[in-house]
Amino acid sequence: MVSDTFQDDIKECFSSAAIAERISALAQTLNQKFAEQYPNEPVLALCILRGAFMFFSDLVRQLTIPHLQLDFIGLSSYHDAAVSSGSVAVTQWLSLDASDAHLIIVEDIVDTGKSMQVLLEKLRALAPRSITLCALLDKREKRVCDVPLDYSCFQVGEGFFVGYGLDFAQRYRHLPGIYTLTPKTHTPTTHKK
Ligand code: IMP
Ligand code: MG
Repeated sequence: MVSDTFQDDIKECFSSAAIAERISALAQTLNQKFAEQYPNEPVLALCILRGAFMFFSDLVRQLTIPHLQLDFIGLSSYHDAAVSSGSVAVTQWLSLDASDAHLIIVEDIVDTGKSMQVLLEKLRALAPRSITLCALLDKREKRVCDVPLDYSCFQVGEGFFVGYGLDFAQRYRHLPGIYTLTPKTHTPTTHKK
């Protein structure tokens, strides 16, 4: 157990080594899928900010898809709480043209599925060649929307997870592993996600 200055309890559930292993396996799966199904077609990997930034950077460095392009989308739903607000805001949109590409969505965690449902609707409206949805964590028990999650590195149960990009009130994103968090004495910041 590690305690920080804000006295939240955090307990490691996935080490950085375990994360690296699962990401390499996912990269291999994606490399094989795109080589077999869509050779030499345009592919755009989308990082869902901010939570997926570490996962994305570790994943794309292992992708061998020729001419892979990268873009970034900002979504916000938690507003510094540990329970989803249910309303999803797009804080940053694509800068590249997604309409003629195969899209790989790289998300930190699919919880209720509301964020991915909103995003998928917007992306489908652009008529991309295909959409592949990857998440680091799949919190399946909390699912409300039936989103087509193609690949996840880990399935997790109830609880709130931080580290490796995932935050609680903008904290803990920098930690190299993934931890469960029990908030203790804490005053959330008012910064937007
Ligand atoms: P959803 O819309 O409920 O599926 O969740 C949307 C977003 O909430 C995810 O993309 C995460 O950024 C965030 N989130 C959900 N569960 C957790 C968690 O356990 N820790 C940190 N962020 C979470
Ligand atoms: Mg997210």
